[in-house]
Amino acid sequence: MTSITETMNDDILICPVCGGTLSRSGSSLLCEKRHCFDISAKGYVNLLLPNHMNAKLPGDNKLMVGARRRFLEKGYYEPLADALCVCAAEYFPDEGTFLDAGCGEGYYTEKMLSALYGRKKKVRAAAVDISKAACAAAAVRLKSCPVPVMTAAASVFRLPAACGGTDMLTTIFAPLCMEEFTRVLKTGGILIMVIPAARHLWQLKQAVYDEPYENTPHDYALEGYELIDKRSVEDTIELHCREDISDLFMMTPYYYKTGEEGHRRLEALETLTTEIAFEILVYRKNPQ
Ligand SMILES: C[S@@+](CC[C@H](N)C(=O)[O-])C[C@H]1O[C@@H](n2cnc3c(N)ncnc32)[C@H](O)[C@@H]1O
Ligand SMILES: [Zn+2]
Repeated sequence: MTSITETMNDDILICPVCGGTLSRSGSSLLCEKRHCFDISAKGYVNLLLPNHMNAKLPGDNKLMVGARRRFLEKGYYEPLADALCVCAAEYFPDEGTFLDAGCGEGYYTEKMLSALYGRKKKVRAAAVDISKAACAAAAVRLKSCPVPVMTAAASVFRLPAACGGTDMLTTIFAPLCMEEFTRVLKTGGILIMVIPAARHLWQLKQAVYDEPYENTPHDYALEGYELIDKRSVEDTIELHCREDISDLFMMTPYYYKTGEEGHRRLEALETLTTEIAFEILVYRKNPQ
């Protein structure tokens, strides 16, 4: 039987074939033209069409998703999650639509939606990621979220969301597609973006590279948007075991960019104390 909470979010996603609204029909989502997408046993719907993918298994693989899930669950990035919750609650309307674009395994999605629920906001929510491994993990995590969430495998370059229907879109260390974000956001809608600040993971980089570089300053201007808020989150974290160090490394782009010597240096570490530094940028979409 379909519960009330499931039906609330039935029409949040659109059909990737024809763009029609998708509605729940048993364990599938169906559009008016009867294009049908099954909800997997894990609880997410695959809206990726074979011709929209540029790799057989796009996005983060199972190992990367597992590393991120373990690391985040240990609370190392909790200061960021807390600051995101405050931001989301402050800028979300009393009632509206929320979309996390590139949700990974749903750690921040769950935190932000729980915060909105705690503020008695009425939220229709969806989370998308191109990685099926990430969607599977997110769907499992989001099952216990107090706000019902439709989790979909889809690309940020082809969001399965209606034009002008989204009140808040979040993009947290995920690829940007401003054209799509602008298409789906309402006028006056809120875009929350998280980027690494200059000194993020500085000591990890020092451990791996002979000549580490600070992250380059971000260009904040976004055409068609007003930057209405900018918050810095800075902290120092202490990692006391190899598994946590290796999980953190695997979550970063450095993992694949670093040569053998860098990997060897990191594997030799038994503990790591490193700065973490993020910027939360909040934009409002201007009238066009
Ligand atoms: C660094 S992770 C961040 C995940 C999550 N937002 C977090 O912070 O925990 C980047 C995510 O973007 C996803 N991704 C990469 N390319 C994508 C695309 N074109 N569309 C949607 N998601 C994508 C990856 O699969 C991965 O889960
Ligand atoms: Zn359709």
